[in-house]
Amino acid sequence: MNNILIELKGIKKGYQITKTNRLNVLKGFDLNIYKSEIAAITGKSGAGKSTLLHILGTLDRPDEGTMMFESTDVFSMNDKQAASFRANDIGFIFQFHHLLPEFTALENVTIASRIAGKNDEAKAKELLNEVGLADRMHHKPSELSGGEAQRVAIARALVNSPKMILADEPTGNLDSENADAVMELIFGLREKFKQTFVIVTHNEEFAAKCDRIIKMVDGKIV
Ligand SMILES: Nc1ncnc2c1ncn2[C@@H]1O[C@H](COP(=O)(O)OP(=O)(O)OP(=O)(O)O)[C@@H](O)[C@H]1O
Ligand SMILES: [Mg+2]
Repeated sequence: MNNILIELKGIKKGYQITKTNRLNVLKGFDLNIYKSEIAAITGKSGAGKSTLLHILGTLDRPDEGTMMFESTDVFSMNDKQAASFRANDIGFIFQFHHLLPEFTALENVTIASRIAGKNDEAKAKELLNEVGLADRMHHKPSELSGGEAQRVAIARALVNSPKMILADEPTGNLDSENADAVMELIFGLREKFKQTFVIVTHNEEFAAKCDRIIKMVDGKIV
């Protein structure tokens, strides 16, 4: 099927805690992510949601299993290919915005473009406009509200037009009004840019609105 963006097969991941004690976090599952979908990942604390998101973002490797991104076997790439893939094809949004404190909103977004070898300030401005921050571009993170800072982080995640955006509890640090605004924004961006979003969330209202809920229980998908 050509509407599959990512195909995970037989994913296992664990941590060696002591010589004799191994913690198996992801216990072997297959998962497809489809083009232009907004998929929510839900499940209890410790279920392995962030671990799965890190694997999807190639920030971490599974112990076993494969990941095809379109026709690319992701875990067979060398470090240089993987870094380029991460910078160009994947955008990350975290619970805390992780903006660089000494740079303005515009600089924070532009720097992400520069890292991917583009330095496209016009695109950074377009996206800040898109997230409703046209009049906040020259503010530093400390001069932004929490919701505004998170919207800058969303603009940053989108600046290189990645095929997939991964978000780990993007509304987890926001009050309900700002959380709703971020949710609306993500749905609006998908309509406009047709990108794929995979979002870890504890927000049930948010999850219910997504195209699909991927529920994790004890290292498996149910
Ligand atoms: N580097 C590590 N070394 C050892 N154990 C780890 C490591 N990273 C995560 N774990 C353990 O793996 C399990 C899954 O962690 P993960 O962060 O994926 O959970 P989660 O579903 O995202 O939880 P939460 O909802 O609290 O964010 C947890 O029990 C955690 O303690
Ligand atoms: Mg987590």
